[in-house]
Amino acid sequence: MVSPKKNGSQGPLRDLDEWEDDLLRRYPEPAESSSTSGFEATNPDKKPAEFRDYRAEARPSVKEFYRLNHRNQTVEFVRGKREEFLSLSRRKMGVWEAIEYLNQLVDDSDPDTDLPQIEHLLQTSERIRADGHPRWFVLTGLIHDLGKILCLMGEPQWAVVGDTFPVGCAFSDKIVFSEFFSENPDAHNPAYQTKCGIYEEGCGLDRVLMSWGHDEYLYHVVKEHLPLEALYMIRFHSFYPGHRERAYEHLMDDQDREYFHWVRKFNPYDLYTKSGERPDVKQLRPYYEELIGEFFPEPLAW
Ligand SMILES: [Fe+2]
Ligand SMILES: [Fe+2]
Repeated sequence: MVSPKKNGSQGPLRDLDEWEDDLLRRYPEPAESSSTSGFEATNPDKKPAEFRDYRAEARPSVKEFYRLNHRNQTVEFVRGKREEFLSLSRRKMGVWEAIEYLNQLVDDSDPDTDLPQIEHLLQTSERIRADGHPRWFVLTGLIHDLGKILCLMGEPQWAVVGDTFPVGCAFSDKIVFSEFFSENPDAHNPAYQTKCGIYEEGCGLDRVLMSWGHDEYLYHVVKEHLPLEALYMIRFHSFYPGHRERAYEHLMDDQDREYFHWVRKFNPYDLYTKSGERPDVKQLRPYYEELIGEFFPEPLAW
């Protein structure tokens, strides 16, 4: 018997993957990618996607998930979670240990696999490796979702996954289900509802409070150990309003604009590798243990 905590179901989603399955429905086409990636082969004759009503097509559980997320992600909530978690004083854990820990989040709906989280991480990293990218990029694929262990620390789904967005300034209508922000107390605080809100134009995303979730948490866990390209991928991979919808560019600085290229390069590996070959965890583990040791010689503080 799996406890609700262990399948990450403290919330309306069947499991955390239901959010990602919904992303695939919203973004069925690969985004921009490099000439060396395997994701550039989109059909040039393809007509622009026909208009689809994503809101109407979303499952009720997904809709309810976004309603909770948009209602509760406030400036005050984000500041509180940063204080609660970013001291990183909960435990020390190596990367492979964290992967196995995360794997306790089982997917009740998929009888074919009892390793859903490990498989997603390895499918992502293996495709990056197959495309000949640098070792830090492969490692980024392997670890990018480890922040989801927040679910095992008792956090509800809406505070772990979901598209991220800045808080403390006007909510963009490019955010999925943006109508649910009417239930967010910040939407009724005039100081938070100008275009830049509590920020200055072009201040850079490092100064912006993003809605709280697995991206920001993992960024703080690994930020001393990886190149900036990798840190952008980790910190902003769920910021679909930014990297896919091009919202909030008025808050970005030159560095953000430059490095979002890497966030966009990473995104297809995250979204479009799920149905690929099932990775052989046992066989791949030695390669990854060595890769982990190269960048993270000591256990990390979580
Ligand atoms: Fe993620
Ligand atoms: Fe992912």
